[in-house]
Amino acid sequence: MSTDAEGRSSATDPERAVLRAEDLRVSYGEVAALRGLDFHVEEREIVAIIGPNGAGKSTLADAVSGHLPYEGSVSYRGREVADSRASDLVSRGLIHCTETRDLFGYMSVDDNLDLGAYRHRDDLDGRREFVYDLFPTLEERADQNARTMSGGEQQMLAIGRALMSDPDLLLLDEPTLGLAPVVLDDISDGIEEIRDAGVTVVLCEQNVTFAMDHADRIFLLENGRFERKGTPETLRGDEYIREAYLGG
Ligand SMILES: Nc1ncnc2c1ncn2[C@@H]1O[C@H](COP(=O)(O)OP(=O)(O)OP(=O)(O)O)[C@@H](O)[C@H]1O
Ligand SMILES: [Mg+2]
Repeated sequence: MSTDAEGRSSATDPERAVLRAEDLRVSYGEVAALRGLDFHVEEREIVAIIGPNGAGKSTLADAVSGHLPYEGSVSYRGREVADSRASDLVSRGLIHCTETRDLFGYMSVDDNLDLGAYRHRDDLDGRREFVYDLFPTLEERADQNARTMSGGEQQMLAIGRALMSDPDLLLLDEPTLGLAPVVLDDISDGIEEIRDAGVTVVLCEQNVTFAMDHADRIFLLENGRFERKGTPETLRGDEYIREAYLGG
């Protein structure tokens, strides 16, 4: 199967873009963090943005979710992101699960989940059930304060809370950061099930192996620019990626 300049396979349809960025640029004062990115994400895809510390992954996630001013264009479901308030984007299903997780530490697991549904109060029980089925440990610890959970449990809670918003497009920023392999399996299964439930996923990840295992397409971000793009299969065969990111 051939791939185009964005690494998209010829079998997919560009008209179905959920998210589209054109010449996306973000600067923090003198620091140019994103230097002209073009990409799009199609319905039910898992697209991974990989890259080292400081590459611009979180900046990309913040910008496309309406939390940072940008230049160029980013559209979500055909509407410019900058033209909507962040809370309206949440109502429309664009949900960002941040690198810092942003849990309410002194509140229970259950209350954290409930707060995730602040823009969607219908079918709360059904969505909570979906989250508990995905991550049973959350149900076992429903009354426990978030701050007393392990790192892995907190990550599951952060993803669970994002799911309570009924996402159409879920941005996950470093969901595997600092997690032990056994917890990674739970997160792995969770991401696949989330996609199977009809959610489109953008995964910002430093863990290249994890990204390769889950993504349909991958963009390698270095110093604010895409250095490589393609399917995991293509990139596994790329000498630079193998040497720099896959341990030779
Ligand atoms: N608020 C800010 N003010 C100034 N510079 C910033 C700010 N936030 C990020 N940067 C800079 O922008 C660049 C991209 O940072 P960003 O956090 O997006 O990278 P990242 O790929 O998410 O890194 P990490 O893997 O460490 O999370 C870095 O050079 C960083 O120092
Ligand atoms: Mg980051």
